[in-house]
Amino acid sequence: MKRDVFVHHRPQWKTHIGFVLAAVGSAIGLGNIWRFPYLCYKNGGGAFLIPYFIALFLVGIPLMILEIGLGHKMRGSSPASFASISKKWEWLGWWQVIFVMFGIVLYYSVVIAWCLNFFFYSFNLSWGSDPNTFFFNKFLITSSGPFDLGDLRTPILFSLLLVWLSNWIIVFSGVQKGLERANKIFMPVLVFLTLVIVFWSLRLPGAKEGIAIYLKPDFSRLRDIKVWMDAFSQIFFTLSLGFGIMVAYASYLPKKSHIIRDSFTISLFNCIFSLIAGFGVFSILGYMVHSTSKEFSEVVSQSIGLAFVAYPKAISMLPAFQRGFGLIFFSILVIAGLSSAISILEAFTSAIIDKFHYPRKVVVSGLSVAGFLGSIIFTTQAGIYWLDIVDHFLTQYGLVLAAIFECIVVGWIYKASRLREHISHWSMGKLNKWWWDASVKLIAPGVLVALLVSSLIEEFLTPYGGYPWLAIIIIGRDWLIYTLFFALIVASHPWRVEPRERILSWE
Ligand code: PHE
Repeated sequence: MKRDVFVHHRPQWKTHIGFVLAAVGSAIGLGNIWRFPYLCYKNGGGAFLIPYFIALFLVGIPLMILEIGLGHKMRGSSPASFASISKKWEWLGWWQVIFVMFGIVLYYSVVIAWCLNFFFYSFNLSWGSDPNTFFFNKFLITSSGPFDLGDLRTPILFSLLLVWLSNWIIVFSGVQKGLERANKIFMPVLVFLTLVIVFWSLRLPGAKEGIAIYLKPDFSRLRDIKVWMDAFSQIFFTLSLGFGIMVAYASYLPKKSHIIRDSFTISLFNCIFSLIAGFGVFSILGYMVHSTSKEFSEVVSQSIGLAFVAYPKAISMLPAFQRGFGLIFFSILVIAGLSSAISILEAFTSAIIDKFHYPRKVVVSGLSVAGFLGSIIFTTQAGIYWLDIVDHFLTQYGLVLAAIFECIVVGWIYKASRLREHISHWSMGKLNKWWWDASVKLIAPGVLVALLVSSLIEEFLTPYGGYPWLAIIIIGRDWLIYTLFFALIVASHPWRVEPRERILSWE
């Protein structure tokens, strides 16, 4: 009886739009706001949209369809889905969810915590006239290097606690009452606030010049292979592919679903959001150039530098409503970040529930405590160094390796054509054989291997960021191996209910 309840009563999204919004919530994250616009600027402005959209249609959308199709077909989290293909590959699913849960989400939550701190700082513009000094010397109080940990930064620790508390409450409440409900609030608010910021900034003096720099096409840049690499790797990261997240989300879909149409909607929505967010970012930078008579190259920056130095500086220079602007900007980052963080927690939670049948509430509570404790290393004075190293290795190697295996296992071992038939059967519309099979079997793994090789070559030529080799080895090599080892152990544990039974219960 218990087994029946488990197999047949998998949680399900209450509404179709609920699933789409949750997937969009995972895809839209900090990267859309602070990385995409910069990549565009650096890689030929509007011309970068060519490799970007080629990457989207050639590998992004096909892999999105693969992950959603796989989760739908196998009705399970990533480990359960790979185990249904063959027990030999179960480890791959574990590896994916382990390295996002014990890697990415740990530092991602700390960055959300910083955004929360800055949200509160916006009330009285605490960063003053020199946000750079404020951020590094007063807020983070960075130490001399990764092995000089220094003290815990209590303001960060407090907001980190709030972040994990939110992660916990949302995922604890389940698929419908937690994830779906949260994203149904988060996504409209996120889009609304982003549009407010964009229209507001577009009216500032200098905005047009900023936009011109953001999008002015320089087609000669397309001859540089690095530009193409950036486009492909950004597509993987921005769509949250290769982490088992979309697989888990799709496993809660009902039988009749719109796998193909939803994959297009989610991916396109995410990319258009990035493009629009870029207008906000570059209008503000244009305004800064306009008001300081500095060169554009002096004010432009990405990621941490953009959010915590350039933006606060621009906010302080605004003629009016500075606080309001700061509050909105940092809320956007917090919401975008949280909706991605909960998707990671869910990918791991559903994997544990599938395999061990522990109650969701217990699993989520345990994971949230572990996650909070694991994040603490990034709240030390050396946090920013570790964050930078972990981010580099996980996204450049872990993610890429896992996605290569994913393409091989689904494309060649399970056979792309088999999954394609399932997808076409349950979706309105047919999946194009040439486009999809070629992408999953050849193009996507080919591109990923190229990305991996080029990162490796670069790594050997110059150790990343000039960090000590020891730090690089700890994360770059040992960490990937340990998580792999851990994945193999969990995978060797027997199932309480054979993963294949889920598929059977479909037919
Ligand atoms: N897609 C998110 C972004 O662009 C990042 C992310 C990756 C989130 C993996 C969750 C998992 O910021």
